[in-house]
Amino acid sequence: MVEIIAFANQKGGVGKTTTAINLATSLASIKKRVLLVDLDPQGNAGTGLGFVRAAHPQSVYGVIMGTAKAADNVLSTTISGLHIMPSSIALAGAEVDLLDMENREYRLRDALMPLYEFYDYILLDCPPALGFLTLNALTTANNVIIPLQCEFYALEGITHLVNNIRGIREKWNPELEILGVLLTMYDRRYGQTREAEADVRNTFGNAVFTTVIPRNVRVSEAPSHGIPALVYDFNSTGAQAYLRVATEVVERLEKGV
Ligand SMILES: Nc1ncnc2c1ncn2[C@@H]1O[C@H](COP(=O)(O)OP(=O)(O)O)[C@@H](O)[C@H]1O
Ligand SMILES: [Mg+2]
Repeated sequence: MVEIIAFANQKGGVGKTTTAINLATSLASIKKRVLLVDLDPQGNAGTGLGFVRAAHPQSVYGVIMGTAKAADNVLSTTISGLHIMPSSIALAGAEVDLLDMENREYRLRDALMPLYEFYDYILLDCPPALGFLTLNALTTANNVIIPLQCEFYALEGITHLVNNIRGIREKWNPELEILGVLLTMYDRRYGQTREAEADVRNTFGNAVFTTVIPRNVRVSEAPSHGIPALVYDFNSTGAQAYLRVATEVVERLEKGV
């Protein structure tokens, strides 16, 4: 059965897209069939995998709007086993377009269902907002991973997000579970990082992944080359950390967290 994981945090720049790309790549490398859906109008998941936006008509936008078929909007990437449903500028209008649409909370789920049989994992990269696109991701997903940067207000933001996720579970998607909180751009040299980590682990306990993603220049360089950090520099600390997270993800899913 397909596992659907959303990467959500209303804050931008916390590592959602980087995590989605590198986890997708890690899972594909162990022969899983993976679809990455880019729900951010900025389209960073696509560009991070080497796609030039204007060069292809495929987009998740028409799929959500019901004007295009999901199967017609999937592209193969250079990574064997990894496909992407890219975003487009038009997606920026989706928040407003969805407002008075029928079935507005479930449009993504209903549109993607015909693809479920072709994948082991569908990863949903959310925009940095708790609007209709993220809501659609969280009604489609059965698991959510929350990437979190260790900084002063980390706990505040995540508490708000977790309450939101609970609300969505109650109202729209009883299947939704928090698979884990992932600490990203971790830099042990900063007291702030260590304090934030202690707070988050105290509050969320085992929900926090054991592995942390270090701040690593190779990870930040990779997108400008259009390849995942795992391909750009396999031995970098960042790439190796993402491989360990993938192992934790698979273990948690097998245990049924
Ligand atoms: N572990 C890391 N080390 C260094 N830079 C990182 C790391 N993770 C992400 N970045 C960089 O931080 C920026 C924000 O990351 P991104 O994944 O795009 O966040 P989001 O999708 O949450 O907005 C990007 O420029 C990315 O390359
Ligand atoms: Mg992003």
